[in-house]
Amino acid sequence: MRVGVLVSGTGSILEALLQAELPVALVAADRPCRGLEIAKRAGVATLLVDRKDYGGFGPAFDRGAYTRELVRRLADERVELIAMAGFGTVLSTEIHDAYPARILNTHPALLPSFPGWHAVEDALAAGVEVTGCTVHLATLETDAGPVLAQEEVPVLAGDTVATLHERIKEAERKLYPATVWRVIDELERKPTGATTAGEQL
Ligand code: GRF
Repeated sequence: MRVGVLVSGTGSILEALLQAELPVALVAADRPCRGLEIAKRAGVATLLVDRKDYGGFGPAFDRGAYTRELVRRLADERVELIAMAGFGTVLSTEIHDAYPARILNTHPALLPSFPGWHAVEDALAAGVEVTGCTVHLATLETDAGPVLAQEEVPVLAGDTVATLHERIKEAERKLYPATVWRVIDELERKPTGATTAGEQL
């Protein structure tokens, strides 16, 4: 199974995926970032499809053209399963058509609570005592796909966005690799009713 990881930032979740020896064939980014450096150092193929070549971060961004190019390049590398790991671009329908139920994401909150880019800040502002992380299938609607795994993380007195996010990421670095492995195992399991040579009568 060839896994493509999408990153935009620090890449500490990517590091955990690599340490878990997942079959990462390619790391792709939407901007220059540390995640790409981590991949290079690990000897994994990298790809930068830079948003600034598609209108950048404002209203001029051509989401459809960006997504089509990314899908084309992922297909070129024969990527079969996508794991988003702190990827900061919402992609359009073409990627979901190309990879149905094969795009995973990790989110730093207990979905459906606190979707969106400011999940840790929002949980802190809401004053919850427990938040956490969610691994889910990505669908066209952001942070709304079927949940695959969740883990609770306590909010401690004196927490800042940075300290709380780091505690959540510690959980993500275990839960995400384990869940991606589980999905790979499920996808690679033989179809129901199939028999191997040794099982044939
Ligand atoms: C993680 O908390 C992930 O859930 C969120 O972005 C963060 C990525 O962290 N989508 P890093 O860049 O891998 O350190």
